[in-house]
This record gives sequence, structure tokens and C-alpha cells, in this order.
Amino acid sequence: MESHGSQQPINQSQPNHTYPLTVAKKTLVFYLSSVVVLLLAIILGFSKTSFYKTQQLKYSFSSHPTYLQTLVGFLQPTPEPQITNAINPISLSSSCVLWMAPFLSGGGYSSESWSYILALHEHKKNPIFKVAIEHHGDEESIEFWEGLPKYTKNLALELHQTECRMNETIVICHSEPGAWYPPLFETFPCPPGAYQNFKSVIGRTMFETDRVNADHVKRCNQMDYVWVPTEFHVSTFIDSGVEPSKVVKIIQPIDVKFFDPLKYKPLDLSSLGTLVLGSTTQNLKLKKEFIFLSIFKWEYRKGWDVLLKSYLKEFSRVDGVALYLLTNPYHSDRDFGNKIVEFVEDTDIEKPVAGWAPVYVIDTHIAQIDLPRLYKAADAFVLPSRGEGWGRPLVEAMAMSLPVIATNWSGPTEYLSEENSYPLSVDRMSQVMEGPFKGHLWAEPSVDRLQVLMRHVMNNVEDAKDKGRQARMDMIRRFSPEIVAEIVTDHIENIIKKMS
Ligand SMILES: *[C@@H]1O[C@H](CO)[C@@H](O)[C@H](O)[C@H]1NC(C)=O
Ligand SMILES: *[C@@H]1O[C@H](CO)[C@@H](O)[C@H](O)[C@H]1NC(C)=O
Repeated sequence: MESHGSQQPINQSQPNHTYPLTVAKKTLVFYLSSVVVLLLAIILGFSKTSFYKTQQLKYSFSSHPTYLQTLVGFLQPTPEPQITNAINPISLSSSCVLWMAPFLSGGGYSSESWSYILALHEHKKNPIFKVAIEHHGDEESIEFWEGLPKYTKNLALELHQTECRMNETIVICHSEPGAWYPPLFETFPCPPGAYQNFKSVIGRTMFETDRVNADHVKRCNQMDYVWVPTEFHVSTFIDSGVEPSKVVKIIQPIDVKFFDPLKYKPLDLSSLGTLVLGSTTQNLKLKKEFIFLSIFKWEYRKGWDVLLKSYLKEFSRVDGVALYLLTNPYHSDRDFGNKIVEFVEDTDIEKPVAGWAPVYVIDTHIAQIDLPRLYKAADAFVLPSRGEGWGRPLVEAMAMSLPVIATNWSGPTEYLSEENSYPLSVDRMSQVMEGPFKGHLWAEPSVDRLQVLMRHVMNNVEDAKDKGRQARMDMIRRFSPEIVAEIVTDHIENIIKKMS
């Protein structure tokens, strides 16, 4: 990446620079890497003019050098302020919301930040503020960016160029508190400068255990407000010491138009999944298998062990079922097949006489635009997590009218009910055994109960369909983008009014 020394804009110094993988080389200044990928994305899809404009934005964002700019010598000779004024004099005088999130990463925070931005963009009526976005909080994935729908990409490029004055900006740091200024790991800091330089700074976060650790509490209390998505978080954050007056519940939208079962044909799962255990049922060829789908990062928290235990104890090869796991690594390698085989060998599950029921792993990247078709190919969605912040795949599956079986604890209790899903009861609370949150508590979902529910869903297809229908209705009624856009807009407008 260009240092302070080589001042030419990239579009001049590297006219043929269209090769994104150079970013992967870790020789770049870390703090700049988030900027780089969005810029490259712009180069790939857009003219060099817009790239240059975006680079200009960085300088016009503030008349002061920010932490970032100082640190990496990013500060160019200050452009004439009149130039930016002349481009858009009106926009410079109005309030701004700078939403900073892992927009380019994929994963939970990424998809939920998109859901807010799209909701605001499409449904904000007569807004008294502009919206700007910046990538922050996690590494970027070119794969994820490329899999976004075209209109989302266009919106990203447009909002990335919104010009804001620091003192008129409300910053939303949408990430885990460890990413907030000063960040505990290499990321574009949020807020991008001292807290008091901005009109207001909001931390938008959540957590998956029964408490928030002391450092995160401190980071939350540095914020003017802390937005959390559920009642579960309101109580765990306050009980852990976050100032109650700062904590605001802001539910999360689900794009019920995008995740609409009537719009899609199912993906062909058999061509995507790798059979890692058991075999397909030979004599049931005439009847389609009943497909359970689960989507998760490969971590213990997600309860994949619980899922495998319940599934393999309850079903055998002749039951006409299949379990598809869409998973990706989380501090682990990709050899999920071996991990599953090893797990099964190490547990006391008795191999059925008829042979194991089939387990398939999908470890290829499924583009965001293909996700609805993946859900469409399943008959039920299962996720026996030990703890969830919100549970994006759960609400996506529910919007797709799938019957959902999920642990009845933590974030998902915000939307799971006996009418719209199969809440999975919890045997007991258990301690987190490793990592920075060792000693926190989370839930142990019941293996026996999960067996019963999976069998029930398969044997009572009409009941399951009713739950699925109710699930979609509840998603539309409570979490539609227009509803959440109004909630978010109200809160932001209240802050703006309070401050002026
Ligand atoms: C922000 O600062 C600019 C100049 O630095 C000033 O013109 C403007 O009035 C300020 N806005 C607010 C809301 O204080
Ligand atoms: C789910 O949890 C709620 C409390 O959060 C409880 O009232 C309800 O009975 C539970 N349902 C099941 C099926 O365990």
C-alpha cells in the first residue's frame, strides 16, 4: 500500500492493478487493509474516478488528522476544504450516521449490519440524517463481497462515499467491544478518532454467554449508548455492570422479501454436499429423503456435537433422512469429515444395525444470493447452540417458512415460541471451558429432547409446515425491514434532537 512517501494516487501509479489477491499478502500495513479491499472492490467494479473520490473522502472526513491517519501517515497534504464544500454544500450541513461494521467479512455481524443498512436505505422516510458506511471489525473476504447481490454492492459503494463532518456525525460501532477504540486487534478503529470528536458514539453489540466480561463492560460504558438486539442482552449487560441508562434494545431486521420461499427453486444439495458418514438409503429411492439442514461456524458453542449425537442416535440408514451441515472453519482446519468421524468413534453412540444415517458436509462458499435456495432445499432447520447472539440462520430459515428446532436460551428467545418453532429445552447450564470467556455459563441443550423433536418434525409434516408458516408470519410482523428501520430512525432522531 502506498505510504506517505509515494503520493501518487494508485490509479496513476498502478494502472493495471486489478489483482485483488495482492491484498492477501500480509506485508501491508494492517490498519489500512480494510480500506484497501473496499477500494479494490471499487477498482474492480467501477471507474477509477470513483476510486479517487473515495480516497478523497478519507481526507475530507476530518480537518484533523485521525488516529488512523497519524498512525500510518495516511494524511495527504490537506485538500482545500472549499473543494468538498463546492461539491455538496447542503450535505455538509446535515447530520450523519457513520455505520462501521464488518460489511465485507460475511458472518453474523456482517449480515446483520447489512440488514440494518438495507432497511434504513429502503424505508427511512424523510430522514434528517445521511448514512455513511465503513468497514471495521473483522477481516474482509473478497469471496463474500463477490457473492453479494448487485444492488447491495452498489449501495455499499454509494454509502461509502457519503461525506460527513465529525462533529455532526453519530458513529455506530457495530462489532464486538474488543474492536472498539482502542482496538485489541488490528482493525480500522471505531470510532475513527477520539470519542468526544463526534456528536455521539453508539456501540452495537451482543454476546452469547450469561455475562459480559469486565473489559467489555468498560468499553460499553465508554459509549454514549449500547444497542443490543434482545431482552436477554438487556439483562445480561446490565447485570454485568453496563450503565442501565445506556442500554437500548434495538431488534434486528430480516429481509423477508429476499428470504421468501415463493421466489426460489431449491438448490441441488446432493451436488454440493460431501457424504462424510453413513450412506444413502438404497431402497427408498422413490421417496425423497427428509432433509435436516444446519448452518454454523465450526465451534463447540454451536452444539454440533449435540446435533450429531441426537441425529445418529435417533435415525439410521433406513429412515430416509439426511443431515446437511453448511459449515466453515473457526480457528480450525477444514477437515470436517475427519472431525465428524473421529467424534463418532470417540462417543458411545451405538452404530445402528442398518448403518448410520447419512451426514453431508457443505464446506464450499455459498454466495449470499444463493442462500434462500439452500434453505428451500431443506425440510427442517436445526441448531442446538449453547448460546447465540441473535441467530441469523434461524431467522432466515423462519422467513423461508422452515420448521426450526433451536435451543431455547439466549438471543433466540426473543423470537422463538411454541407457535412458530420447536424451542429445544435446556438440560442445565454449563461452564465455558476454554478461551477468553472461560468460566462464563451457557446452556446445554437436551440431546434426548432433540431426538424427540427431530423425529416429530419428520413424522408430523403438517404440524411442521404450520410452524413454518407461523414463523414467516412472525418474521414479517415483528422484524420486517420497514418496522426495524422506523425503530432505528426514531432512536437516531432522538439523539440528534437531544444534542441540538
Ligand atoms: C461543525 O464544525 C464546523 C466547522 O468546523 C462548523 O461550521 C459546524 O457548525 C459544526 N457543527 C456543529 C453541529 O457544531
Ligand atoms: C423456553 O423458555 C422460556 C423462558 O425463557 C419458558 O417460559 C418456556 O417454557 C421454554 N420453552 C421450552 C419448550 O422449554
